[in-house]
Amino acid sequence: MQVLGIDIGGSGIKGAPVDVEKGIMLAERYRIPTPKPAKPKPVARTIAEVARYFAWDGPIGCGFPAVVQQGITRTAANVHKKWIGTNAAALIKEATGCPVRVINDADAAGLAEMTFGAGQGRMGVVLLVTIGTGLGTSLFVDGVLLPNTELGHIEIDCEDAETNASDAARKREDLSWKQWGKRFDIYLNNLEKLVWPDLIILGGGASAKHEKFMPYLTVQAEIVIAEAMNEAGIIGAALAGRPKR
Ligand code: BGC
Repeated sequence: MQVLGIDIGGSGIKGAPVDVEKGIMLAERYRIPTPKPAKPKPVARTIAEVARYFAWDGPIGCGFPAVVQQGITRTAANVHKKWIGTNAAALIKEATGCPVRVINDADAAGLAEMTFGAGQGRMGVVLLVTIGTGLGTSLFVDGVLLPNTELGHIEIDCEDAETNASDAARKREDLSWKQWGKRFDIYLNNLEKLVWPDLIILGGGASAKHEKFMPYLTVQAEIVIAEAMNEAGIIGAALAGRPKR
């Protein structure tokens, strides 16, 4: 079965058709810069453009950087506030004419890693952290997802963790990998005290540079790097887009 997976991010909207049985992209991903401001309608139109590029008329799964409950986006940390309370699934369905499911972007990446990547077959508590503009989290217990955990927004020293320890913070404050790695380690240690994961999977853009910051991580949990890296968001979104029987 093929599903068009779409990863909606703050800077780009990326998509590709995915074979959801094999967990592989069937074409090179197509990327369009996210419209600014990233309000619901222009974003939905951009998604429709990605679908048109692939002449798509099947099911679509989208990963969106916010809390998503039954297709409705509930928060908007790095997107326009107009998304709060928007029925994203209905809006994108209207723009594309295709059946659409929407889930949180980190949950999408987590689904991909648990099904085909670094978390395959792993029981116990598995926590995936995506390191990018935001800090996304996805939590699994014996392979079952607890959606919308949003642990990127825990408060450490009265500050939102994401503001301080995301890849955007590293760039904004021009931190060395050592400086940032130590901050990220404080974040991971706080997470560890909250959910005691057996395994932590690190994904998102910055995970490609893992050699530069792994030496500074001191948590007890086993840490591995996401296997699908940048593709996990698209593959996982496609998994979420499978029509339910
Ligand atoms: C959002 C999350 C999202 C993460 C990664 C955070 O700012 O609150 O919903 O998963 O960024 O995009």
